[in-house]
Amino acid sequence: MDNFIFENPTKIIFGKGQIARISKEIPAGAKVLITYGGGSAKRTGVLDEVKAALEGYELTEFGGIEPNPSYETLMKAIELVHKNQIDFLLAVGGGSVIDGTKFIAAGAVYEGDPWEILLRRGRGINKALPLGVVLTLPAAGSESNPRAVISRKSMNAKLSFYSTAVFPRFAVLDPTKTYTLPKQQISNGVVDAFMHVFEQYLTVPMEARLQDRFAEGILHTLIELGPVALEDPENYDVRANLMLCATMALNGLIAAGVPQDWSTHMVGHELTALYGIEHAATLAALAPAMLTVLKDKKRAKLLQYGERIWGITEGSEEERIAQAIAKTKEFFEIMQMKTNLRDHGLTPDNIPEILDSLRAHDMVRLGEHQDVTPEVVRQALELCF
Ligand code: NZQ
Ligand code: ZN
Repeated sequence: MDNFIFENPTKIIFGKGQIARISKEIPAGAKVLITYGGGSAKRTGVLDEVKAALEGYELTEFGGIEPNPSYETLMKAIELVHKNQIDFLLAVGGGSVIDGTKFIAAGAVYEGDPWEILLRRGRGINKALPLGVVLTLPAAGSESNPRAVISRKSMNAKLSFYSTAVFPRFAVLDPTKTYTLPKQQISNGVVDAFMHVFEQYLTVPMEARLQDRFAEGILHTLIELGPVALEDPENYDVRANLMLCATMALNGLIAAGVPQDWSTHMVGHELTALYGIEHAATLAALAPAMLTVLKDKKRAKLLQYGERIWGITEGSEEERIAQAIAKTKEFFEIMQMKTNLRDHGLTPDNIPEILDSLRAHDMVRLGEHQDVTPEVVRQALELCF
């Protein structure tokens, strides 16, 4: 296990009816900007519930933050922050709204063009307005981490930044607010959380026995309850467990002291930027192929994953690894996800431009060994059709 510092300042306020207590978390007299997406927050009544809980505060609203939040939209919010002298941000939505709000928080106090925050990947960004979250879609884990992924349509770019300045002060996780999610978003959330665990767990043995078991606990719970949520979406205990899984999958805990991969995510971001494929859908389509191409480097952890998660103990190592990858693909399909790129309308003719896009964003030495090159990615992409 490597040395590490684990610090996560986000206060998690979990459970039914907890939106009512957000005024305890926001300084009295604050000028609050409530941010939300395309309309679900309004339609589901969450926005009204938030505004009722903030009775007496000076409130400004900014809606329209799109899935895969764009610089172009968010710059309008930054203007509003300056105009109304906003000093607290409250994101009401899923990963896109939260990420967009993190960008607004840092961009509003950044000297220069806020797009530089992305180009610097957040390096040197240590100031941001305070922000809180009311989570309505458990998936990205953005509600309790220091990252955000921002697109710039004019450049066909989707890049991430990391800065502890954008850790949410608090996050309300009320499972009942996820009941209105379309099934596809329930599936997206389960698969995104599953792949977050993979990116931090399926690397190399590190004698990180507790982190491994935390990670395996999240995987077991997602496998056990993901399909149930599709059948019984208003089962509170199921939705509560899945909501907590998504948060714990990317709050830094299972990453402590171990190397991280993220190559599947980085390729996935290019697919979203180029073709508009939803984030989790890119991961489900790519993962089986990426695991196949990288199986020798991930041999020990793939065998451990296969045994501890799927009970695979028979056969040669090759057979067990192939079975573990097949079970993963099967689980994604049970979650109604497409597990190849052909079903997203792509063909092998798209491979060159995907690799060019990776090179354009300097994504050329990915993975826990920084050895996932565009050539390695090409081999994986060829298996996705
Ligand atoms: O836009 P609205 O109207 O709100 O509708 C949204 C959106 O259309 C809808 N929705 C959200 N909550 C709902 C709801 N519909 C009904 N009922 C509710 N309770 O769901 C749609 C998708 O929302 P979105 O926020 O885009 O989904 P998700 O939470 O999966 O976030 C995806 C974004 O997270 C980023 C991805 O790149 C992508 O941009 N990620 C952020 C990470 C991070 N900050 O750590 C890591 C992740 O790997 C990921 O990259
Ligand atoms: Zn993700």
